[in-house]
Amino acid sequence: MTAAKERGAPAANALWGGRFAGGNAEIMERINASIDFDKRLYAEDIAGSQAHCAMLVRQKIISAEDGERIAAGLAQVLQEIESGGFTFKRALEDIHMNVEARLGEIIGPAAGRLHTARSRNDQVALDLRLWLRNAIDRILRQMQGLQAALIGQAERHAATVMPGFTHLQIAQPVTFGHHLMAYVEMLGRDRGRMADCRRRLNECPLGAAALAGTSFPIDREATAKALGFDRPMANSMDAVADRDYALEFMAAAAICGVHLSRLAEEIVLWCSDGFRFIRLTDAFTTGSSIMPQKRNPDAAELIRAKTGRLAGTLIGLLTAMKGLPLAYGKDMQEDKEPSFEAADTLELCLAAMTGMVLDLDADVAAMRAAAERGYSTATDLADWLVRVLGLPFRTAHHVTGTLVKTAEAKGVPLSRLLLAEMQAVEPRITAGVYDVLDPERSVASRTSFGGTAPANVAAAAKAARERFL
Ligand code: ARG
Repeated sequence: MTAAKERGAPAANALWGGRFAGGNAEIMERINASIDFDKRLYAEDIAGSQAHCAMLVRQKIISAEDGERIAAGLAQVLQEIESGGFTFKRALEDIHMNVEARLGEIIGPAAGRLHTARSRNDQVALDLRLWLRNAIDRILRQMQGLQAALIGQAERHAATVMPGFTHLQIAQPVTFGHHLMAYVEMLGRDRGRMADCRRRLNECPLGAAALAGTSFPIDREATAKALGFDRPMANSMDAVADRDYALEFMAAAAICGVHLSRLAEEIVLWCSDGFRFIRLTDAFTTGSSIMPQKRNPDAAELIRAKTGRLAGTLIGLLTAMKGLPLAYGKDMQEDKEPSFEAADTLELCLAAMTGMVLDLDADVAAMRAAAERGYSTATDLADWLVRVLGLPFRTAHHVTGTLVKTAEAKGVPLSRLLLAEMQAVEPRITAGVYDVLDPERSVASRTSFGGTAPANVAAAAKAARERFL
């Protein structure tokens, strides 16, 4: 009797325990097992096994009869998992061994031939690539959906005047449509980053085996093609050792998260009493349990906060990967949870943001009134002094500053200063100046490429439909 058995330890692992006398300590099983989270890879794992099995048959590495048994057995495992009839076992560590063990129960010893010319190292790299590829495809569609929602609102509000801010101080009038279109552009780049990530990750690690490749006459081109990859990965060690595809995904997700959190923050501000620029319906607000008047933009606040998670997944995996010697190390098992978390969080945030953008109702009058405050047309006044009176811009800036001070002392917007009051500061000012003091005229004049003029915004929205939808 072995010492382990004398201590009453569990039996050795059925799949890799050949050289082991006893089983794992309970705590070892707990730290080692990934099945609690990597069961989400079941469909990808089985798809990879089906492709591998078909290739093994074609290459005459296993017999056609065994191949058929394995394929049918895998189909049954898939069906059992999807119908909820499958029992995942921690003692079997991960999704790969849970599937293989069940396959063995269903078809008997032929199941043992599936793992020929393969390792869990290339298997897991494959599964996560497939899973992330699907996640990216869902996310790309969602990003497009959010762009569509933003473009729709931008078209509705191409001429809706609101204050534009720098330092969160009223700066110059802009249109609400122009402001929303800024996020359409950001999301366009977010889509580009995700699409780039997809392009680079779309190489197949299967067949790298443990790290060195295999002596069996496998056909890596065939499995790569069957699984929708562009090509097999060129280096077997790289194939099992890197997780840059997951890092890129998390980086792209985190950057998109930052964009969403900025829009979320603006929604919070715009709903607040200081602004009242927009209103969200009951569908996207919550009440307070003590203050009956409240209508809180919780979804926006949560999107703002969840960006922290997205950044956290990236920092976590970067830290886990740094300094790892080639090739595979168990450290890399830590790639799954942050990958799932990044995808889940981003998908949730994109869906909630799209809902809010469709839901929001702009208070056009409140925006217009705010644009009148804060001397938002001061730059237009300075530009007028340059254009019409020929003042150097610095002088015009100074004159305008004096006029703003005068208006401030009177408590009126620039447009309500009397001509005589303006002429006291700069005698050559004429009544024509009133043309530029009005926010509508101000935005209409901003016709430079990429500017906020309503005509530009309408054209930009139209162009964005072509580019993005
Ligand atoms: N569960 C493992 C992971 O997620 C699978 C690969 C394990 N390979 C090994 N040789 N232990 O990384």
